[in-house]
Amino acid sequence: MDLVTATADHVRAQCEGESSGHDWWHIHRVWRSAHALCDAETGADRTVVELAALLHDIADAKFHDGDETIGAKTAAAWLRSLGAPEETVRRVAEIVANVSYKGAGVADKVTSLEQRIVQDADRLDAIGAIGIGRAFAYGGWDNRQMHVPGEEPVLHATTEAYRAAKGTTINHFHEKLLLLGDRMTTDAGRRLAAERIAYMEAFLERFHAEWEGQA
Ligand code: ADP
Ligand code: NI
Repeated sequence: MDLVTATADHVRAQCEGESSGHDWWHIHRVWRSAHALCDAETGADRTVVELAALLHDIADAKFHDGDETIGAKTAAAWLRSLGAPEETVRRVAEIVANVSYKGAGVADKVTSLEQRIVQDADRLDAIGAIGIGRAFAYGGWDNRQMHVPGEEPVLHATTEAYRAAKGTTINHFHEKLLLLGDRMTTDAGRRLAAERIAYMEAFLERFHAEWEGQA
């Protein structure tokens, strides 16, 4: 079996039915979007992109005492167990290590074209209609309040503060989702994100109008 198929089967078995936002269908959508972004960009190594898309959420810092290296380590161990070339292991692990959003005040670290593609694909799945669905699903899963009226958006300056915060789901739109449009680094990703951001802005306007009894 080739590396990509073996990895897809493995990841699917690991995360099928997961309910905090990293279920197989999230991975599947990111994999497919990453494929599409590869078509739009020239020069990306498809195997590296596909493997990283499949493995990007294989282990999450927020479920491992904030260990930000756990994802890359787990991905590398898996690929080595398949006998993948060391250069592929290194490149995939580097993407997994740098893909995630670490807070409104924390700059992204861009390491390669392949990383930019996987990161944009992952971020597209955090915004738009799917992103709204995932945010509220996560909020319920993590016992968060949906919204507290009158509360000003809170943006965190460090990864530790961002991870530790227990804000509302509406706050998550302000501290992450609405900011992702300006954090896309591929042209196709940026275009798709603009549409999805506009959709979320309209959703929030409607949400607050209904909350106030004005719609
Ligand atoms: P990813 O890197 O796959 O976008 P995360 O691990 O940051 O994801 O989060 C998984 C999903 O849960 C995403 O859709 C994200 O926006 C959502 N999410 C993460 N943190 C929160 C939160 N505090 N409130 C609401 N949704 C959240
Ligand atoms: Ni993801």
